Amino acid sequence: MNQSQDCPQQQATSGKVCFVQSYAKINLTLDVLGKRADGYHELATIMQTIDLYDTLCFTTTNEDRISMSCNRTELSNDNNLVVRAAQALRQKLGLRQGLTIELNKRVPVAAGLGGGSSNAAATLLALQRWWQLPVSMQELWEIAASLGSDVPFFLTGGLALCEGRGERITPLAAHWPAAMRWLLLVKPAIGVSTATVFRNLTSSDYTNGAWSRAIEVALQTQSGLQASDLYNSLERGVLAQYPEVAQARQEMLDAGAPYVRLSGSGPTLFSTFATLTEAAPVQQALHTQGYEVYLTRAINPANNDITYF
Ligand code: C5P
Repeated sequence: MNQSQDCPQQQATSGKVCFVQSYAKINLTLDVLGKRADGYHELATIMQTIDLYDTLCFTTTNEDRISMSCNRTELSNDNNLVVRAAQALRQKLGLRQGLTIELNKRVPVAAGLGGGSSNAAATLLALQRWWQLPVSMQELWEIAASLGSDVPFFLTGGLALCEGRGERITPLAAHWPAAMRWLLLVKPAIGVSTATVFRNLTSSDYTNGAWSRAIEVALQTQSGLQASDLYNSLERGVLAQYPEVAQARQEMLDAGAPYVRLSGSGPTLFSTFATLTEAAPVQQALHTQGYEVYLTRAINPANNDITYF
């Protein structure tokens, strides 16, 4: 990785700099159990971090403010979750330390891959460690949960069962199946609003959480995970509402994908393969048809994602 390419403005500054990677996720299962009184939905979902990441570069400044820039200029604003995460930490601890944040997006936006949530969690973790802040993991978790349902997952990453709104995390020690070594992601050229997808659920989409429980056991006992074990309660509605997603799914199947699942609220679809030889024709076919395609792997980023200068 070339850090100076990821942090172009870093070369022009003399302030202290911290550089982190911010990984995406997929949902192996997503059970929606029902709608809650607060308007959110009760979930049981198994999430896994994948080796597709944005980079964040932080520079301390003498000004009492936070500013950010992003290679996707439409995301450069004070409402961005990275700014809100840094603000929340500063407010909690009464800090005056100024900060500039450069966000380099590679993970597709509004795609069901948790990119924005991951950026927020990476910001919380980076500032906690870099500035050696007196803030516990429980306090970081509370800030993360206030920023979004998926943000707490990214404080630990790896493989986890996420319940409640998504904010109650149980890390899982997994034996990742060799048959699922390669994850092929296909992103149709539309963005999907998570709120709309949840609003369009019908009660027949609800489950009792059995899909997530079953896969939790299968992953922990190496009992062999089948494609048919993966499930997403949001998939029916998304395929019905967005013909672009249904078409991409069909094209993946036609190209030889053994099965296709939606990640989160989509529109990104994924399939898994044991070998690159099996994945390559599907990757090539979907790329030729103009889709954004990513060939990636499950990873646990716990120990390797922070660099200080
Ligand atoms: O928590 P977050 O802001 O990421 O959620 C975005 C939207 O997705 C919420 O406003 C809500 O409409 C929907 N959502 C939900 N149930 C969840 C998580 C999200 O209904 N467990």
